[in-house]
Amino acid sequence: MKALVYHGPGHKGFEERPRPSIQQPADAIVKILKTTICGTDLHILKGDVPEVTAGRILGHEGVGVIEETGSAVTDFKKGDHVLISCITSCGRCEYCRKGMYSHCVNGGWVLGHLIDGTQAEYVRIPYADTSLYHIPAGVNEEALVMLSDILPTGYECGVLNGKVQPGSAVAIVGAGPIGLASLLTAQFYSPAAVIMIDLDNNRLEVAKKFGATHTINSKQENVLEKVLSVTGNRGVDTAIEAVGIPATFELCEKLIGPGGRIANVGVHGKSAALHLEDLWAKNITITTRLVDTASTPLLLKTVASKKLDPMPLITHRFRLTEILQAYETFGQAEKEKTLKVIISNDL
Ligand SMILES: NC(=O)c1ccc[n+]([C@@H]2O[C@H](COP(=O)([O-])OP(=O)(O)OC[C@H]3O[C@@H](n4cnc5c(N)ncnc54)[C@H](O)[C@@H]3O)[C@@H](O)[C@H]2O)c1
Ligand SMILES: [Zn+2]
Ligand SMILES: [Zn+2]
Repeated sequence: MKALVYHGPGHKGFEERPRPSIQQPADAIVKILKTTICGTDLHILKGDVPEVTAGRILGHEGVGVIEETGSAVTDFKKGDHVLISCITSCGRCEYCRKGMYSHCVNGGWVLGHLIDGTQAEYVRIPYADTSLYHIPAGVNEEALVMLSDILPTGYECGVLNGKVQPGSAVAIVGAGPIGLASLLTAQFYSPAAVIMIDLDNNRLEVAKKFGATHTINSKQENVLEKVLSVTGNRGVDTAIEAVGIPATFELCEKLIGPGGRIANVGVHGKSAALHLEDLWAKNITITTRLVDTASTPLLLKTVASKKLDPMPLITHRFRLTEILQAYETFGQAEKEKTLKVIISNDL
């Protein structure tokens, strides 16, 4: 089969690889129908995720159709259409029993990381019964690719941890796919104001179409002044960090109002300053989280019932045989106005 293979920092190829086969009774082999590229894949390609070794097939998102199941798989059979979660969960370990699937001692984020991933014709999914979801009839499968990773991430790490409430004021720093996923799902709770902050005017325009009440280009405007004017000098109730650099986390510390919650989503590589001299009396809460995809069943229902439409997150479409071009386009997000790309298996 053909697959997108990582060959160490800066190197990748679209090449022939053996088709995966069942290794454990709980495995399923899924034929990929649609997959996508994540910002994390770009981090891997830069060498930022050293546990990913040369020879790994990338990708942790997608929808597909069951090709084969191991003897212990009971909930899926050949021909079933499935949503693949970016998080593999055994369903039995201590963390799985708490709903913290991302910390599953037998799984977690392994796809396209520690085992071969979804940017290929076929993928092996361990613990298929607890790591795949049936696709409800009539739901657009392209839209569901956004449920493998980005919508649960924006919702769980940003909106749920940030406890967005009706009438509240929310600031989201970073209008990439994850920040926009937080923006879409924050609206389940009818916040009064959602202020999106980014450096990229195109993404801020998209954010307005997605329901942002205010947008701020932090390169061109004074963010703190504008947020204080929107919130009657109080600051926001929820600040969602969806970039992953010290400056944006520290910005959240400035924007948060008394009793507020800073919900960190970004993956950080450097330490950020904690300004307790400003925050000690503000009754704030800071949360961090690795996405569990525990909200996937709920999000599936919101998409099926058309309460949530992930389609506007998709800006480009490619065939699997064009995946190198898809990486080019995804890697030049500002120039190409890219959010998420859909890659369809045409092989
Ligand atoms: N916690 C989790 O489980 C989890 C899961 C997936 C992704 N993530 C992380 O979420 C973050 C966002 O992901 P994404 O795919 O949307 O990334 P992205 O790179 O597409 O988007 C980041 C956005 O931040 C903006 N930005 C950069 N510097 C800025 C600054 N100084 N001020 C304001 N905006 C700035 C960029 O213009 C861009 O639009 C990343 O750090 C990613 O690794 C976390
Ligand atoms: Zn991802
Ligand atoms: Zn587990």
